[in-house]
Order: sequence, then structure tokens, then C-alpha cells
Amino acid sequence: MEYSEAMEWLARRAGMELPQEETEEERRARAERDKALEVMKLAARFYFDNLKKPEGKPAIDYIRQRGLSESTVVEFGMGYSTDFTSLPDYFSKKGYDTKTLKNACLVSQNDEGRIIDFFGGRLIIPIINARDQVIGFGGRTLEKDRMPKYKNSAGTLLFDKRKTLFGINLIKKLQQAETVNDIILVEGYMDVISLRQAGIKNAVASMGTSLTVEQCKELRKYTNVVFVSYDGDAAGQMATWRSLDLLARAGLEVRVLTMPEGLDPDDTVKKEGREGYLLYKNAALPLIDFKLKSLSKRYNLNTADGKNKFANATLGILSALDPIAKDLYVKEVSKLSGLSAESIANSLSAELEKRARRAPVAETKKENAAQITDNNARIVAARFLLASVFSAKDYVKITDIKDEYFDFEPHKEIAAYVKKCIEKREPPKIGALFDFVEDKSEIERITEAMSSVPVSQAEDYYIKCIQTLEKSGLQKKKAELLEKIKISSDIKEQQLLKEELLKLIRR
Ligand code: GTP
Ligand code: MN
Repeated sequence: MEYSEAMEWLARRAGMELPQEETEEERRARAERDKALEVMKLAARFYFDNLKKPEGKPAIDYIRQRGLSESTVVEFGMGYSTDFTSLPDYFSKKGYDTKTLKNACLVSQNDEGRIIDFFGGRLIIPIINARDQVIGFGGRTLEKDRMPKYKNSAGTLLFDKRKTLFGINLIKKLQQAETVNDIILVEGYMDVISLRQAGIKNAVASMGTSLTVEQCKELRKYTNVVFVSYDGDAAGQMATWRSLDLLARAGLEVRVLTMPEGLDPDDTVKKEGREGYLLYKNAALPLIDFKLKSLSKRYNLNTADGKNKFANATLGILSALDPIAKDLYVKEVSKLSGLSAESIANSLSAELEKRARRAPVAETKKENAAQITDNNARIVAARFLLASVFSAKDYVKITDIKDEYFDFEPHKEIAAYVKKCIEKREPPKIGALFDFVEDKSEIERITEAMSSVPVSQAEDYYIKCIQTLEKSGLQKKKAELLEKIKISSDIKEQQLLKEELLKLIRR
């Protein structure tokens, strides 16, 4: 919600009157919005009621043929536009002017200048926002070969398709009833509808167009983990990869489902049932694994040339990873290609050097290189530790959260918060961090950290992180002691410090 909307909502909930200090401009905008919402609601009701009329039969037949139940139709508020004139007639009888309808994208003008139903003759799927308001419609043809297959509301005062996810209203409802652990992102209306009918309630659709940053942010409000479930043949497509990166960059842990070639979630759940679909979901791969696997399919790995080309193609993906993840995924590429891990690691180092030369280091101004790598390993490890804590991984021990592990300011604050939560026996929540951590991008990096490692190896990686923190912590303490010895002028104190240092070295 916008700030003012939130105020209104809270006031209403508390039974209070919000003092109105609207400008004339704001009042007009709100009135216009209310009007638009009103006609959308009326239109949705009108289309829905058509299904009960004799003229609604073609839509009812279509709905049956697609296997949609009555309760599904009701739950989604689906409807039917019987023809091109009934809707404009209905509204003009009620006294609404054409402009209001045009602005809401409910009508358009045909070649002869007549006002016609924008969705004439189509099955209607209302698009509803998180506040349960109808903001747009999708209209599907009932005939196989009519083009376009779908018509969506054009941009209006209420509807911006770049910001909208179909089904988000139902996620919101679901959230009130149970914990939403993850969300399934699909492409089409029918995928959401069909999955929900099969009892899989946590799906939303991006509605065909390529995913936007705004949609990712919207998803992020409801979940940390998103399962991307596009058509069976979408895997290799650029648009898909772009969407996946966008989701990851928004701080979501991304998993990708692979379904049979040519089938979408709707087809799959119809063919193989809820359980069948959930098997694909369970087998979903973390982002990097998915990318490597789909790359591997593009090459003939039975030939030396194919293996080599594949390994080279993976370098771009591998070079973006942090050191420990790099290590793990080099092994993965080795497994997929049959090349030795050493040779891949060598190519990778060469690639990284090449990249470093190409991009003159802009950040060395701040810290010297040695410090960066040294700090980096500690920071990366601490980040993964925190990520594991927030994902409530069962391999995390409370005693792992030691103050000395965290030397990066935001991490210190977050660790302190986690400890407080543990004392209060409350689960730490990632969302709470936004209230006190200044560096918001670090919160995102923590959420990203989880998806940088294959699930099967998360525990091993975690153990390595703790080891890194222990080992580098020890070195840090030694360095500090040495420094103290150097500057101390009291012989007795020096002696004590030296003993302490010896103890550390012997450890
Ligand atoms: P069905 O054929 O009804 O199962 O559709 P679908 O949900 O499987 O849709 P499809 O995978 O073909 O497309 C995914 C989404 O893209 C749809 O839900 C629509 O939102 C959108 N879309 C598909 N075709 C068109 C079109 O012709 N025009 C527009 N504007 N959007 C489309
Ligand atoms: Mn489909």
C-alpha cells in the first residue's frame, strides 16, 4: 500500500476517522480512482452473471471442456462477454458516460465509430489486486484460431501490467490462513487457475510479458523463495534467463522447475495430477544448477570439442560466484562435462584474470587488494551463516552465532538482533531487519546468499564458513596480540601477551 492508503486502512481497522487534509487535486484523483473501481466491479459482476444466462452457453461449454469446476469459476470470478454491445448498453442505461468506460478500457471504438465491448465474445478473467479490487481483465477467445488468443486490459489508471501479478489477491488470502513458504511463478492465467483447482494454491502469473523489477519486488513482499514454472521448452530462452536473474537480484531464492517439453503447468497438472506436478516442483533446481544443466544440453558432451565448449560457456556463470560456491560448482561442471576439476579451475582463473584486466578496478581506492580478499572471505562466510539462520536451517546451532565472527557493521547489528530473538524464543525475521539495518543492500545480499549454493551442499558449505570464520578469527587475534606486544612498554604485560599468543599458536 501507499503511505496514505496504509493510514486509511489502519484508521478504518481501528474504527477511527482520518482527518482529511486532501488538496483539491488529490480529492479529484481519488474520486476518479473510486469511479474506475466502481465500473470495474460492475463489469466483473455483469460478465459473471452472463454465465447463468442462455447466451452464456458457449462459455460454459468451453469451461467444461477445459475441466474447470464451478467453484473454480466462482473463486476467480470468471465471466463471459456474450457479444459486443450488451456491456456498453448496460452501462449507458445505468447512466455512465463513454469516457469513464473508455478510461477503464472496458470499451473501444470500432471502424465505424461505434462503441463496442473491448472483450466482446471472450471468456473473462478478472485481474484482482492485493486489496481485492478488480483492476483489469484478461479475455480469452473461445475459438481455437481467433487472434489474438488473449486480450488484456491496456494500461489504465488502475492497471499497470508491469506492476501486476495475476493471483496475488489469493496469495494474500492464503497468507492469512497459513504460512506461505514459497510462491510458484507461472506464465499464464490458466496455469494459476488450474494449479489452484488442483489444490496448489501458491501460484501467480506474470501474464505473458517478460518479468519486471516491479513484479519481483511485489513477490518479495510475500516470500523469500520462488519456484519458476514456465513452459517445458522455455528453459533455454534468453527471456527466461533474464527473468531468473531479475528474481535473484531482487533477493529471492530461485528454483526452476523442468517440465516435459511443450507442456505448461496447466497441461502438466491435468495430465499428471497434483502429485505429479509436485514431483516436478520437488525436483526443481537452484538457479545456478539450472543454468549449468540447461547449458550442458546445448552441447554434445560425447565429444571432446563439445565438452570443451560447454566448460568454456560455464565460465561466465562460475566467475560471478563467491569463492566457496565457485569451488563447489567447478566440481559440478566437472561432473557434467567429464573434464577434470583442475582444468576447469585453471580456465576459470584465466577467465577471471582476463575480466579483471578488462575492467580496471574501480574499488581499490578504498581498500588495498589483500585486505579485500581477506575481509571478503570472512564477510561472505558470515553472510551465509546469517542466511542460514534466517532460513531456519536445521544444521545451524545457536552457539554458532559468536560476536567475534562478525566484523562488518551491518552483520554485527543483525547478529545482535538474532541473539535477542533467541533469548525471547522468537524466530528471527528477515523483514524486521529493514527497520534498523542502514545498508539495505546487505539485507538483499544475505537473502541472495542462500541461493548461491546447491541445496544438497548447503550444510557442507555452512561448515566451511564456520571454519573460515574460526581460522581467520584466530589469525586476526594473533595479529592484534602482536601489535599490542609491539607497542607495550611494560615488560610484565608483554610477557603475559606473549604467553597468550603462544597459546593461540599452539591451538
Ligand atoms: P491457454 O492457451 O488458455 O492455456 O493459455 P495459457 O495460459 O497457457 O497462455 P500462454 O502460455 O499461451 O500465454 C501465457 C500468457 O501470456 C497468457 O496467460 C496471457 O496472459 C498472455 N498471452 C498469451 N497470448 C496472448 C496474446 O495473444 N496477447 C496478449 N496480449 N497476451 C497473451
Ligand atoms: Mn496453457
